Amino acid sequence: MNDDQTKLYWEANADTWSHLSRAGADIYRDEINTPEFLKHLPDIDGLTGLDIGCGDGYNTRLLADKGAKMTGLDISEKFITNASLNNPHASIEYKTGTALHTSFPNGTFDFATGFMSFMDVSDIDQLFRELNRILKPGAFVQFSISHPCFNPLNRKNLKDENGKVYAVELSSYFDTDNVIIEEWLFDINTGAVQPGMQPFRIPRFIRTLSQWFNAMAGNGFTIEMMNEPRPTPASIKRKPKLINATVVAYFLHIRCRKSYNK
Ligand SMILES: C[S@@+](CC[C@H](N)C(=O)[O-])C[C@H]1O[C@@H](n2cnc3c(N)ncnc32)[C@H](O)[C@@H]1O
Repeated sequence: MNDDQTKLYWEANADTWSHLSRAGADIYRDEINTPEFLKHLPDIDGLTGLDIGCGDGYNTRLLADKGAKMTGLDISEKFITNASLNNPHASIEYKTGTALHTSFPNGTFDFATGFMSFMDVSDIDQLFRELNRILKPGAFVQFSISHPCFNPLNRKNLKDENGKVYAVELSSYFDTDNVIIEEWLFDINTGAVQPGMQPFRIPRFIRTLSQWFNAMAGNGFTIEMMNEPRPTPASIKRKPKLINATVVAYFLHIRCRKSYNK
């Protein structure tokens, strides 16, 4: 699947995604991924950053609040419209376009981020090649993805007699030639999900852990931080469903750095 096809899916998802995530239905983002991501982020005050796959700009705004001069980039025009019109933040510049081939000059940014977006990009080798081009020497890239080891093509939660997940059955880890269209919606218990609301349709690219590593290493990046976040007891108290994310790692966060020499 190429970028043009990916874009069509995200254009169709954008308005419902923006509406639901603003209503607090993206509990994995709010309770696990964003807090853990920011905990491990280096000081970005005064730096120039690019947020790739920024969606409706929620995390881009948090980065700008930390003092970075941010650009938000997304393949979906609707997401960029939602980010710039509905949640304005004076210092952020938003752009529509693919992260695979951008118009930014060589060595533009001090850092780049991807909050649960790199896994949705159709070609991660080209993504890191382009990142190497548009980042300054010594710049870092920090991103979060669905954990490649625990989200292969086939995955099933195994539940005990009380409905509690105690294990996860996984297979087809190496089935990386397939792209499947996954259909789901955010947490239905928030009340924001209305009957009849169409589920998201998201192209899912299957990649192994070594494919991720090689996309970074092969394009001049060295890994300097990995984190497999899980919900805190306080999060589980607020959103009991999150207990399932303590059985295996749902997410993987990585920070890698471009060489200082070129
Ligand atoms: C799962 S959403 C994450 C949105 C946002 N970062 C967040 O945390 O709420 C993935 C985003 O990646 C964007 N995306 C997918 N492929 C892209 C590409 N090639 N270039 C730029 N953005 C892309 C989608 O449009 C979508 O907004």
